[in-house]
Amino acid sequence: MYFNKYPQPENFSFANTRTLGSAKNAKGANPTSGNFAVGKRNYKYNLKDHGNDVYQLTVKSSYWPKQYSQATLTPPKRATKHDLASISRLAGLNIASPTQSDQSLLQSEPGRFFGVSDRSWIMQFQYDPKFRFYGLGEKMFGFEHSRKSTKFWNTDAWADFPFESIYTGRPDPYYVSIPYLIIKNGDQYIGILVNNPYPVFVHTNPDVIIANQNDADDVNNTRFCIGSSDGLPELYFIIGPTLQQLTQKLQQLVGTTPLPPLWSLGHQQCRWGYKSYDDLDQLDKKFTQYKTPTDGLWLDIEYMDGFRVFTFNDKLFKNPAKQIKDITDRTHPVVPIIDPGVKVDEDYDVYTDGLKKKVFCQNPEGSPFVGFVWPGATVFPDFSLPRARKWWADKVAAFAKDNHLIGAWLDMNDPSTGSSDCMYMKFNDGKDDHETYHSQYALGMAQASRDGFLKANPTLRPFLLTRSGFISTSRHAAVWTGDNVSNRHYLKCAIPCTLNLSLSGIPFNGPDVAGFGDHTNTPLALDWYKTCFLFPFFRNHSSINTLDQEPWTFGPRASKTIKHFIQSRYKLLPYIYNLFMDQEEAGDPILRPLIYHYKHSAKTPIDELDDQFMVGPAIMQAPCMEEEQTKRDVVLPKDRWLDVQAGKWIAGGKTIRAKKEDQNTPLFVRSGSVLPMLTGTPTDNQSDLSKIELHIFLDKSYAQTVTYTYRFDDGKTFAYQDGERTSIMFKIKLAAGKLSISWLDSDFSAGELTVRPIVHTNAKLKSITVQGDEMKQSACTLNFAGAKLAAMKTKPITLKS
Ligand code: NOJ
Repeated sequence: MYFNKYPQPENFSFANTRTLGSAKNAKGANPTSGNFAVGKRNYKYNLKDHGNDVYQLTVKSSYWPKQYSQATLTPPKRATKHDLASISRLAGLNIASPTQSDQSLLQSEPGRFFGVSDRSWIMQFQYDPKFRFYGLGEKMFGFEHSRKSTKFWNTDAWADFPFESIYTGRPDPYYVSIPYLIIKNGDQYIGILVNNPYPVFVHTNPDVIIANQNDADDVNNTRFCIGSSDGLPELYFIIGPTLQQLTQKLQQLVGTTPLPPLWSLGHQQCRWGYKSYDDLDQLDKKFTQYKTPTDGLWLDIEYMDGFRVFTFNDKLFKNPAKQIKDITDRTHPVVPIIDPGVKVDEDYDVYTDGLKKKVFCQNPEGSPFVGFVWPGATVFPDFSLPRARKWWADKVAAFAKDNHLIGAWLDMNDPSTGSSDCMYMKFNDGKDDHETYHSQYALGMAQASRDGFLKANPTLRPFLLTRSGFISTSRHAAVWTGDNVSNRHYLKCAIPCTLNLSLSGIPFNGPDVAGFGDHTNTPLALDWYKTCFLFPFFRNHSSINTLDQEPWTFGPRASKTIKHFIQSRYKLLPYIYNLFMDQEEAGDPILRPLIYHYKHSAKTPIDELDDQFMVGPAIMQAPCMEEEQTKRDVVLPKDRWLDVQAGKWIAGGKTIRAKKEDQNTPLFVRSGSVLPMLTGTPTDNQSDLSKIELHIFLDKSYAQTVTYTYRFDDGKTFAYQDGERTSIMFKIKLAAGKLSISWLDSDFSAGELTVRPIVHTNAKLKSITVQGDEMKQSACTLNFAGAKLAAMKTKPITLKS
């Protein structure tokens, strides 16, 4: 399979408009289904309105008798119906704007909409120069995706591309396949999700027709297209109209992220090389010694007995169950790596049992397909089979239960088959070709692994991290963005990659911080930490044989700063945890591009910005990622902001200059925001969500009432689903220097809340009243993100029913 050559429309035959019937049916309405022919083959199309501006277009033919996608999709149940999409004929799909239904948001290419080339299909749309493109899941080529040709096929990047093209390149396709394109048309957004597991391709408006000849004639800039090399054309068209509404709708369709356990939102410590109880014990002692909070301690492949999955090397773990319980009781969940490959070894029960139960993928000759991964000759569970998923879930359940495990990371599930050509790996008892399940292999593994953890511990929320994934992976696992390199190129790729994954239905994701391959260095590690300390997933991980990069290894001054940024993340955990609740309920991502909350304008050009981001609705970061940098531009959207680094309130609607400083980072808090934070300075991971500081940020001009709902629960079980959650809505108003705080709609099902209001404002504060009672106020300082912010506090108040 070529990764870097793509099907071109010129080689397709298109449905002939004249054979497609009239624009209107007998009742004068646009038909939403019908038949047509291309050449000698007949096709049947159907456009289904699911309500809430989610439309599903399917084209059936004898080529594509079955939908192979295993994505779990949950379209709306016709809550609202707008009928804004129509197929007047298959050559003319028109999707209108919900705000102006006579305005077309997206229109197909007249007469050249649906084309086929043998089993491949393509759909073409009219391009407008004002379009901007986003999404596409995990891609390494920046935030805005104009002029791109790309494919979707899960790769094991370091094995599938030459290392030179990895080091400072943009390998594509990457580990995760989410064929989802967002189109921005003016201020309105529309998304196209292609529910097809084969190699889907997308050309936005590429003008490169001969590889590496960027000055070649521009032949294709009047349309953009989507297609696949095979498989049922099933596309969801989702109308925002805002990016926030679009993302919420997409996330509901593909599945929101189940609320993760709190520990998975803390700092994680990993490296290829941690393999024994002694390593875990040392790590726990070091984090305690350095008073640096951390949660998971991770084990890479060497903990296993000869890389046999679901085993421990008995020299490295004398008594795994007892030793893992010991580390877990010291409050650090142990997160072992789990690879799908099973060592070919007649004396290994996982292998012999799998053979007996016929759960492994087959080669074309009907015997188990053999790849070459860490254990040598390796066979692979066939996750397309329900019985193999159950088999795997049972193995995971036993492994988790026996060893007190509450999470795991799933690696090499692209699937990586080493030097063995994966195209010889067949699925479904050898009946289905490799392409049918390749890019959804990791999805099946994640689903079965989650089932396994739930079997082992039905009341505990499991945490799973996966390298590869497909549409709807977020239902089962978080994603880390694979093997990066400790260099500035990958640092700069991290923001747009996480943002686009966040817009594509995988909000719980993040890169290997400080960098995986090659040695990191002090200034680089500092910049990684300052950039990523509020990313949804926050893990330090590095490759074998690289220099140590634990937080304390960078000399006293830099290590102190790194520790402070880790502490700042813990300080903000109540806010981050509440953002994850919003994700589960409404579908909002944690990290958001600025266009999620603000409009692009000439004064605030934000629609291609890939070095700034929002953390929830309140915080905007603009990290400095160049080594030789003293200043950078920051686009500040129209609003009032607290410039945390400078300690000043400033007006947005313009571009400002921020300084690159050693111990802090350009970070801005929007006026009218509330940030719940832990009390004091966190030095361990004992985060008590029931005792918080409520940081209120108000510019003196802010006239509206601020409402913020704070929620907490036990942080680890599913009890919140039965109502065991405390939830309090705060109302805050600043008028003539008087700040009043009140609360209503309180539910104390998870216990009482102790809250200390802390006010950050440039207004001369005359009084702070809480539920009508005036409180004594005193000056205090917030140490956050390298800044010391002066604020006013009251005494803590306990709220209960
Ligand atoms: C590849 C993974 O991407 C990396 O994170 C891991 O350390 C190595 N496999 C070894 O297991």
